[in-house]
Amino acid sequence: APVKVKKICCIGAGYVGGPTCAVIALKCPHIQVTIVDLNQSRVDAWNSPDYKLPIYEPGLEEVVRQARGKNLFFSTDVDKGILEADLIFVSVNTPTKKTGVGAGFAADLNYVELATRRIAAVATSSKIVVEKSTVPCRTAESMRTILEANSKPNARFDILSNPEFLAEGTAIDDLFRPDRVLIGSLQTQEGIDACTSLAEVYANWVPRERVLTVGLWSSELSKLAANAMLAQRISSINALSAICEATGANIDEVAHAVGYDSRVGPKFLKASVGFGGSCFQKDILNLVYLSESLHLPEVAAYWRQVVEMNEYQKRRFAKKRIAVLGFAFKADTGDTRESASITLIRDFLSEKAHVNVYDPKVEGEQIWQDLAEAIPGTPLETIKKSVTIHNGALSACTGAEAIVIATEWKEFRDIDWQAVYDSMNKPAFVFDGRMLLDAKKLREIGFNVTVIGRGD
Ligand code: NAD
Ligand code: UGA
Repeated sequence: APVKVKKICCIGAGYVGGPTCAVIALKCPHIQVTIVDLNQSRVDAWNSPDYKLPIYEPGLEEVVRQARGKNLFFSTDVDKGILEADLIFVSVNTPTKKTGVGAGFAADLNYVELATRRIAAVATSSKIVVEKSTVPCRTAESMRTILEANSKPNARFDILSNPEFLAEGTAIDDLFRPDRVLIGSLQTQEGIDACTSLAEVYANWVPRERVLTVGLWSSELSKLAANAMLAQRISSINALSAICEATGANIDEVAHAVGYDSRVGPKFLKASVGFGGSCFQKDILNLVYLSESLHLPEVAAYWRQVVEMNEYQKRRFAKKRIAVLGFAFKADTGDTRESASITLIRDFLSEKAHVNVYDPKVEGEQIWQDLAEAIPGTPLETIKKSVTIHNGALSACTGAEAIVIATEWKEFRDIDWQAVYDSMNKPAFVFDGRMLLDAKKLREIGFNVTVIGRGD
């Protein structure tokens, strides 16, 4: 029969383990939740008296304030946590392997393995062990082998898969109102009982119909599949954005029109400089590796293309060229102290853009000195690869996608803007940070004009 869970231990106090189990504690006052981690400073931060938590998520502090010290505890005593719990979440990191077989693709399961070995070594009674980390399909089988080979006589282990679908930035909302909770188990009586035990925990706040129970391997694979399909939408829309730029179509209009089809849906269709974050790329590469090890090269190639499209998109943006007109902190001076251009250019470089600079009065040497100071740790030689100083506005704008007016030099008003437009890559953008230009005239030429503080 299913055991009623009274004590939960979560191994790994990171972005997933921390918020997930803090919410379980909040929603289940009758369950004692202990989150353990080897990282002392992380645990200290979770325990800090003034709630300087190690990760920022809207609403998280409130949850921790309500539960910590009552039925929610953070500790580095991993063994005690394991010993006391009837259910243990394994929520450790699973980064892409850097060396060895599958390097660059496969998930590094070292942390999962170490945590599993610890459970086997310490446990003196039966436990439900739950994979929370994102892992390749059939990892539960390897965990079972470790647990069974090392367990004590009275300790039985049931293994569940319960992947997490929260997104960073909305973690607490996602946990309070999940689209679904997925639990995978072996379809044996013991497996189904363990599954019921965990489902009962979630039933404290998640509607029953949103708790999906499936087989172990389906559950493990669904997590990789969900991330792969989300990322695939982004790569699809980003691929279309390249077509838009070449044809004059507008990607936001296309995404809107396509997303209106209820079968496609409007979410997650925002064109971007490519997806980032700790998981999409890692999990797709994991899926690619899995496909290859199952001798499914066409499947591997299909998913690999989602990552390749993302690299292409990032490269495309890296090639963008931005002309910054003006480097002085205001017109009619060569003084650059605290000039906005410095920060602007620093930020453009961090987005991997190429920057052309022109200022009628500031010396090149001054510009290099200011940029070197603003970007410590990056050698000037590297900065010089991404920044070109020009001796005229027209030459600075030639081949650029966007122009930023950073200083209100009068001569910028009198530039031959038609010639500038003709020399630029289209669509051509002007950001007038100084309300200097005649926006109407520029729009007639064909520029996309944004004037600071104006919505038109
Ligand atoms: P993280 O690096 O923030 O946290 C993992 C924690 O585990 C670290 O604090 C580490 O010190 C600890 N740890 C590692 N080995 C340990 C051990 N043997 N004993 C005790 N503690 C140990 O990682 P994360 O972002 O929380 O991700 C965890 C897993 O969840 C990954 O598999 C990831 O793919 C998955 N996931 C992440 C997100 C996300 O948004 N970050 C969302 C869904 C799923
Ligand atoms: C993502 C998933 O959304 C979660 O469901 C999943 O649990 C998690 O990965 C995980 O397994 O780690 P996350 O990476 O935190 O969550 O953030 P997202 O909001 O998905 O954004 C990922 C990247 O895609 C960001 O760089 C974002 O800018 C980009 N993105 C997102 C787009 O470019 N376009 C979009 O329409 C949406």
